Amino acid sequence: MLKTRALLKLSWLIHAVALLPAMLLIGDWLNDRLSVNPIQEAIQRSGRIAITLLVLTLAVRPFSQWLRLPMLLAQRRTLGLYTFAYALLHASLFIGLDYRFALVFILQEFAEKPYLWFGVSAFTILLPLAVTSFRYWMRTLGKNWKRLHRLIYVAALLAVLHYGGAVKGDFLALRGEVLRPWLYGLAVALLLAWRGWRALRKRLEADS
Ligand code: HEM
Repeated sequence: MLKTRALLKLSWLIHAVALLPAMLLIGDWLNDRLSVNPIQEAIQRSGRIAITLLVLTLAVRPFSQWLRLPMLLAQRRTLGLYTFAYALLHASLFIGLDYRFALVFILQEFAEKPYLWFGVSAFTILLPLAVTSFRYWMRTLGKNWKRLHRLIYVAALLAVLHYGGAVKGDFLALRGEVLRPWLYGLAVALLLAWRGWRALRKRLEADS
């Protein structure tokens, strides 16, 4: 009973934390508190929220182990779905609001800004992950479900490259506003290393 209540509270907290940036964005938009280019700021903010939630989704498992709180694991799907929702909002603002679905101009942007391809690739991975995140698909896909959902790491790496390309500067040459994308990259690399180390330890234990 106590556990159910704690789980419920935690779940509400996750919803509140994930919804807050959207509320703030809507509030700033309605009150004209965004920059002189509100659409651009909304695209940038929704993108940053999406990548932050993506990293938090990846961090749930290691944190649940370090803190010995297995109930945290139940929140992974919620965070993952919010990640997808913000990525969808981000892409929709760009395609629908900024370019008003003008395909020719959108394709021109893609030709001029190769980092957009990383964004689309990350989104293309997040979409099936969101759709199959429900119990029905877990049961239907069996072992393949885990294999499919490991792709979240690929999506995170692509999102980091997308972020690195979107900011002013040279991501690889460490010039310009690249500190934040690099920090996200570092976080993803550490989480990936933790995952690899855990898988290796499991295999060694199974062999011995
Ligand atoms: C169809 C897929 C996507 C499209 C078309 C797209 C489009 C864009 C565009 C046009 C920008 C540049 C905004 C500007 O500076 O004017 C941008 C930046 C960004 N996007 Fe995406 N994106 C996509 C997917 C994603 C995904 C999946 C993520 C993260 C999970 C993401 C995260 C970001 C971030 C963090 C930025 C940089 C924001 C900043 O400058 O502070 N994007 N995206």
